[in-house]
Amino acid sequence: MAFRFKKQIFGFMDLIRFTKLVDKRRAKLENAPATPLPVTYRVNETAKILHPAPLTVKLVGIVKDSPDTKTYTFELPQKAFFRAGQYAVLRAKIGDSLVSRPYAISSSPYTALNDGKVSLTIKKSGYFSSYMFDKAKEGDEFTLSLPFGNFFYESVKDCPHIVGIAGGSGITPFYSMIKGIEEGSEDFKLTLFYGAKTANDLVFKDELDKVSNDKIKIVYVLSDEKSDGYENGFISADIIKKYVDGDFTAMLCGPNAMYNFVDAELAKMGVSGKFVKHEANCTASRDVKPKTYKLTVHIQDEVYTVEADAADTILTSMERAGLSVPARCRAGGCGFCHSKLVSGKFSIAGADKRRLADSKFGYIHPCCSYPDSDMELIVPRG
Ligand code: FES
Repeated sequence: MAFRFKKQIFGFMDLIRFTKLVDKRRAKLENAPATPLPVTYRVNETAKILHPAPLTVKLVGIVKDSPDTKTYTFELPQKAFFRAGQYAVLRAKIGDSLVSRPYAISSSPYTALNDGKVSLTIKKSGYFSSYMFDKAKEGDEFTLSLPFGNFFYESVKDCPHIVGIAGGSGITPFYSMIKGIEEGSEDFKLTLFYGAKTANDLVFKDELDKVSNDKIKIVYVLSDEKSDGYENGFISADIIKKYVDGDFTAMLCGPNAMYNFVDAELAKMGVSGKFVKHEANCTASRDVKPKTYKLTVHIQDEVYTVEADAADTILTSMERAGLSVPARCRAGGCGFCHSKLVSGKFSIAGADKRRLADSKFGYIHPCCSYPDSDMELIVPRG
């Protein structure tokens, strides 16, 4: 009873306070100083650095790292923050197509935060990367969204010793990590196994040879060449055991064939799956008989009808047609391209990574799905 009585009293007091609310507010406004409000607040500025909207960036430097790989440096209109190992999505209009692709950032976190610059290392392969390699020039403008991905050291989950396994151009995120360790923005021990066919295929070899930091050890592994100072063969359990002692988290970046091989070697060593991280690879075209389907795409109130090549992902076909559609990882991992299937048949590249609810209610990831019939989709605006 006492409790109910108290509640009623407070409720009544609230009513009295409420009657004075407008007067009190007016008095406060009248007595407030005429100082203008700040144009921007510190918290918003920090949020802009941590979560920048897609930025218009200018290409300010191109360096050839190997016969088929170049590093592109972009000037950002603002400072930005990322973790070494993350990727950025580069987007451009090429002819009538709006194309985008994720690339691992090869520059250091400090460069983005202090100088407002970010570098992407791009290997010539596929439509957009070949365009970048052959046609992009200093002064060109692009759209860059950054940063994304979980391929970075997480002190609460990972062992303080990271064993990096890089294949070919998969060296890029590790190159950023090495710079991060040297600068002090990253704090872990890194033993990096860098595999390539021959010594000539090793990107950043000169820069990597100059690294002298007691937290970093680099082992080159050549599959098609025997030479002093290099391991020969593939990155096997035997080679890893030769240089690594104790617990570690393995981080792999390279082709899928390398993942299959190294995963089996790590399992032989008793490394549990929770201590193995893979960087996702973009879904490539598939090898099927040439065929074109009709793709009907709803984006907000607009309806587009475009052609979809059976060999290409649905996302690629939409971009080729110039549609602005969302894309980040292009590997079925981030869910950013998540679209509603209205009708049609499709195949998924590799494993189906959709949530149970997505497959139940008919949502697909166009970035890793190929058309097997005419299709109709509802797609978010990019
Ligand atoms: S772009 Fe990441 S799931 Fe499609």
